[in-house]
Amino acid sequence: MEVSAFMNKTTVISAEALRVQQENCQKIKEYWLDQGITPVAFVDTYGCQQNEADSERIRGMLEAAGYAMTDTEEGADVIVINTCAIREHANQRVFGNLGALTHTKRRHPRQKIFLCGCMAGQPEVVERLKKSYHHVDGVFNTHHLWMFPELLLRVLRQKKRVWAVEDSAGSIAEGIPVRRSGKLKGWVSVMYGCNNFCSYCIVPYVRGRERSRQPEDVIAECRELIEQGYKEITLLGQNVNSYGKDLDCGWDFADLLSEIAKIPGEYLLRFMTSHPRDASKKLFDVMASSPRIAKQLHLPFQSGNDRVLKAMNRHYDRARYLELIRLAREAMPDLVLTSDVIVGFPGETEEEFEDTLSLIETVGYDALFTFIFSPRPGTPAAKMEDPTSREEKNARFKRLCDTQDRISSERHRAYIGKTVRVLVDGSEDGLLTSRTEGGRLVRFPGAEELIGTYQNVRITDSTTWSLAGELE
Ligand code: SAH
Ligand code: SF4
Ligand code: F3S
Repeated sequence: MEVSAFMNKTTVISAEALRVQQENCQKIKEYWLDQGITPVAFVDTYGCQQNEADSERIRGMLEAAGYAMTDTEEGADVIVINTCAIREHANQRVFGNLGALTHTKRRHPRQKIFLCGCMAGQPEVVERLKKSYHHVDGVFNTHHLWMFPELLLRVLRQKKRVWAVEDSAGSIAEGIPVRRSGKLKGWVSVMYGCNNFCSYCIVPYVRGRERSRQPEDVIAECRELIEQGYKEITLLGQNVNSYGKDLDCGWDFADLLSEIAKIPGEYLLRFMTSHPRDASKKLFDVMASSPRIAKQLHLPFQSGNDRVLKAMNRHYDRARYLELIRLAREAMPDLVLTSDVIVGFPGETEEEFEDTLSLIETVGYDALFTFIFSPRPGTPAAKMEDPTSREEKNARFKRLCDTQDRISSERHRAYIGKTVRVLVDGSEDGLLTSRTEGGRLVRFPGAEELIGTYQNVRITDSTTWSLAGELE
């Protein structure tokens, strides 16, 4: 597996290769037309926003091939499972659901099953699928997403299993058709892959080397979304702050963000994820300078202890992280801050864990995504000695969550009496749901017609997770 660390050439998929895929979509359409069938497809997504964005492209290709979308496995002519490998639990869920699909396939024998995404980049997963999951017809890793129409056509015509799982530094394919899930909020990838090799993390192995899209491609996609009426764009990358390092255009992420924010219109720009290693004052100043950029920063710290941070290969220490937070808040006093943290990294002692607790008290995050360390095959941390018991890790995890719940409640309570501007994005149990610029969930009574508009809401109540209010 380590071999992928030494392969570093991005494959740019040519316009010609993508045109061939369009022709394959046409051939799939004809395959079904000949039988007088309108085929239906189910795409099931696990994992992060990057996978959500990929699934929108898988649906785009399926739609171009004549498929209608359904939201159930039962009766679907093709099922695509877009998987996540970040923790062992994610893998187990997928294998559990895969097992159940033997039954849906028996009831609907023409059903074809594909597995793609990050698990398809794990050699031991591919082996297991080959040996024990014969009802899976096709597997492709993230580097081969663009050739899904060809794989599907081969499965339909030749009735043979297909595998597109070769490892590579990664590909960039512009112009894959996309069927977006929402009309209000859109994802736009600015880069793919990751070069950081944090010692616990599987992502660089399954998603390949860091590669940036050309600024003009990113800007054009954002402009298109804004012209179509999208109100929120989230720029995606595993480490957006290293955007542009592999291009010759001299742009960094702050330059890109600042340029996108010049596109006229009423919308908000968000981005994730920022790695503290490359975050800069320049970025915070750009965020502060435009009302179109949300004053929200997701800046994962993972651990509050310097020894653990070093063992994680994170390339910053506690002092540097806190300095970044100071600079960010200096530029944006109302900044909403969120973060990721791992509990129970191999060898983490009680004192080291307490450094994490004290860091979250010092910073006062609005919300935190908390994880218990999960060893990933092939990563350095999976081989480190890990004497801490599961019970101890669970107990630390609970202390961390309790501490953050208290902090989140306090921060939410401080909104009471204030008026916030929100984007109304849906309704639930008779109330409208919306998000503040900082991404906080606000529920309030109002007419469904308000969905898709910005409103001012006065906050009257709060919980750990959300705010409640009324229209002003
Ligand atoms: N690129 C992002 C993170 C992507 S993964 C970044 O670097 O910030 C999302 C989160 O999952 C990580 O921030 C980390 O907290 C968690 N994570 C990753 N690998 C993990 C593992 N092996 N065990 C537990 N949590 C993990
Ligand atoms: Fe994983 Fe680290 Fe890359 Fe994030 S920056 S995806 S945690 S290797
Ligand atoms: Fe999971 Fe892959 Fe995202 S491992 S978190 S889906 S990059």
